[in-house]
Amino acid sequence: MRFVALESEQNVASFVADRVAEVVELGETVLGVATGSSPVPAYREIVRRQRSGEIDLRNCHLVLLDDYLGVPPDHPASYHRTIVETLAEPLGIPPTHILGPDTMAPDTSLSCQSFESAIDRLGGVGLQIVGIGRNGHIGFNEPGTAWSSRTHVVELTRSTRNDNARFFHDLDHVPTRAITQGIATILDARRVLLVATGEAKRPVLEQLSIGLLSIDVPASALHCHPRATVVFDQAAQPR
Ligand code: GLP
Repeated sequence: MRFVALESEQNVASFVADRVAEVVELGETVLGVATGSSPVPAYREIVRRQRSGEIDLRNCHLVLLDDYLGVPPDHPASYHRTIVETLAEPLGIPPTHILGPDTMAPDTSLSCQSFESAIDRLGGVGLQIVGIGRNGHIGFNEPGTAWSSRTHVVELTRSTRNDNARFFHDLDHVPTRAITQGIATILDARRVLLVATGEAKRPVLEQLSIGLLSIDVPASALHCHPRATVVFDQAAQPR
């Protein structure tokens, strides 16, 4: 796993946009996209570059990393809607090119399987962008998740629900379950780019940078990926 230390959040955003531009140039059209606050400046930079004619992602497909279960795709806190608003619409990517798990289907195991099959039909993910939770989660794969996991339903931990309460009225409104690409699903992407910014991510990056593989730090599975990069700003830099 490659660690890239950069000065500021904006440098991190430019680095992510550079990697996206590079893979698209190489012919990749399927981008895996995370939500959360970490990739937001990168998404803004990608949109800026498209508006100035430096890149053209209109033909790309966007694959969601995870989403809340039981939250409709047009709900303001739905990850689907977030991706539509921050990336797809400003980039002119049609709704048919956004692939997320069905968060409303009564048969959740069918939603998980259909999502996996749909990723396969697209030819897999060329570049998967992920954030990291303070407890080391990637997507919603909490500590203890099997590295062989495919897309599955998870009960969210209290700490993750607390971290995400800012997107809802209060903690009681934060869903208790989510659907997430599994760790094996994430590892299937041809490239993975983990984005971490801000002081709160320093302790988990310190754990990750030791290089230890641990089921208690889901992101450490990325050490097993041949083309995984972690990019972080100075505030998150391991000491
Ligand atoms: C949520 C998401 C993750 C995201 C994490 C970190 O739990 N499910 O995909 O990586 O939050 O979010 P942030 O970037 O806001 O710290």
